[in-house]
Amino acid sequence: MSAVAFRLDGEALSVAVPAETRLSEILREQCLRTASKVACGIGRCGACTVMMNGEAVNACLVMAWQIEGAEIVSPEGLDAFETGRIVKAALIAENAFQCGYCAPGIVMALTALFLADRRAGEAEILSALEGNLCRCTGYHSILRGALSAAN
Ligand code: FES
Repeated sequence: MSAVAFRLDGEALSVAVPAETRLSEILREQCLRTASKVACGIGRCGACTVMMNGEAVNACLVMAWQIEGAEIVSPEGLDAFETGRIVKAALIAENAFQCGYCAPGIVMALTALFLADRRAGEAEILSALEGNLCRCTGYHSILRGALSAAN
């Protein structure tokens, strides 16, 4: 066990965990942030996407030792960002999700994209979502929502 200090949704935290503990476990089990999901657990589906130092990352691939001093934003913290609120509203308006399991990861990926590039277009949106799978195959409505958020 070692203590890891980081910021989560604007709050300074320290947790004592084995260094190889995954960020997805820390968020869900130590911090009770359960909106980011774990599906594949190997970096393939994007359900666990959060922002780390402003970039979208797969929380299931980030180890505890890597988050020392990092700024993490979980889906629960997105409302602090106008961009996050815009993305969520645009996707809801398009009925972008069916089961919703992929939704937090997709919202996080799009918010990270638009925070970095508010003028991102379709190509950038598709690239940003390459790692986010939707098993309900709702990609068209997701893309419409993302394009709407971009405007
Ligand atoms: Fe992390 Fe699938 S659970 S990418």
